[in-house]
Amino acid sequence: MGHILVTGGAGYIGSHVVYRLIERGYSVVVFDNLSAGHRAAIHPNAIFVQGDLLDPAQIAALFAQYTFDGIMHFASRIQVGESMEKPFLYLRDNINTAQNIIEAACQHGVKRFILSSTANLFDKPNEVPIAENEPIIPGSVYGETKAHAERILYWMDRIYGLKYCALRYFNASGAHPDGLIGEDHHPETHLIPLVLQVALGQRESITVFGDDYPTADGTPIRDYIHVMDLADAHILALEALKDGQSRVYNVGIGRGYTVQDVIQTVREITGHAIPVTMGTRRAGDAAELVADNTRIMEELNWQPHYNELRSIIETAWKWHQTHPNGYGEGS
Ligand SMILES: NC(=O)c1ccc[n+]([C@@H]2O[C@H](COP(=O)([O-])OP(=O)(O)OC[C@H]3O[C@@H](n4cnc5c(N)ncnc54)[C@H](O)[C@@H]3O)[C@@H](O)[C@H]2O)c1
Repeated sequence: MGHILVTGGAGYIGSHVVYRLIERGYSVVVFDNLSAGHRAAIHPNAIFVQGDLLDPAQIAALFAQYTFDGIMHFASRIQVGESMEKPFLYLRDNINTAQNIIEAACQHGVKRFILSSTANLFDKPNEVPIAENEPIIPGSVYGETKAHAERILYWMDRIYGLKYCALRYFNASGAHPDGLIGEDHHPETHLIPLVLQVALGQRESITVFGDDYPTADGTPIRDYIHVMDLADAHILALEALKDGQSRVYNVGIGRGYTVQDVIQTVREITGHAIPVTMGTRRAGDAAELVADNTRIMEELNWQPHYNELRSIIETAWKWHQTHPNGYGEGS
């Protein structure tokens, strides 16, 4: 049996999926340039190859050494705001890395490919909860690069029979329940870790970008999906692809929480007052992004186990409390 290749497996979501893959008995090769990931996040039983997906020669060397039954492609630049300031950087890196790894998959006859896609494909959805048939109108250059990667996969399925699953994550959050790995982005742009940094005394307050949205308390609504539930979705998708059918899924818990809900839940869990600084709206922030998860639940029999914001944040708090400086310098 071949290995499962996990690009970006030293990053936040990839590292959690690697833990789950190894628990399930898969043999895993992580390929990561550590530009944003952490050596310490990689499961000790995974094979680690440090390398850059922008360099086809490094990818060729990887495929010369190992045989892969499937590929999970997480490696990417991930900041929505930065992609609007440096659009060419995002177009170049995210499209070229996706294209390079998909080309290698086709050249080497790998038949199963899972792509990390995003809810940022849906800028102003006609219907919320958002189903897979919602028109793709990316909310940023970052989202555009994911839409492009989905299109590359569509063509390579038609031409080479590469079976793929694009998983459009909503807001990935939480940490492995054992507290060994968690979220450590630099800079951190995600709400839950930022609020928890206030609870740890690392920030004075949390800035809320606008409270005049058409929601109950005026702050935007998001669907927070636990990273271990995402990990389960990847493994189910990988196994389902054996039926020879490519697919796309929107992956969330199907329930939304406002920014104020997140702050209030962190107050309850941590006992910290969490002062709020009110800011103005950020360009490109949608009022409400919630997944319609009917398709993945029906077709893959996937069930999120973390259905409550509180249980999601509790796992994140465990990680941040025990690792207040994340993985630490040089990891
Ligand atoms: N975090 C979220 O809420 C979220 C939501 C939707 C989609 N996604 C997608 O999920 C994936 C993982 O996100 P994350 O939060 O774990 O990000 P992350 O930054 O923690 O992980 C990305 C990893 O890819 C590696 N990498 C980047 N460029 C590379 C390159 N050229 N060659 C090799 N490795 C490279 C980084 O070192 C890092 O370890 C990304 O594709 C992201 O776009 C994330």
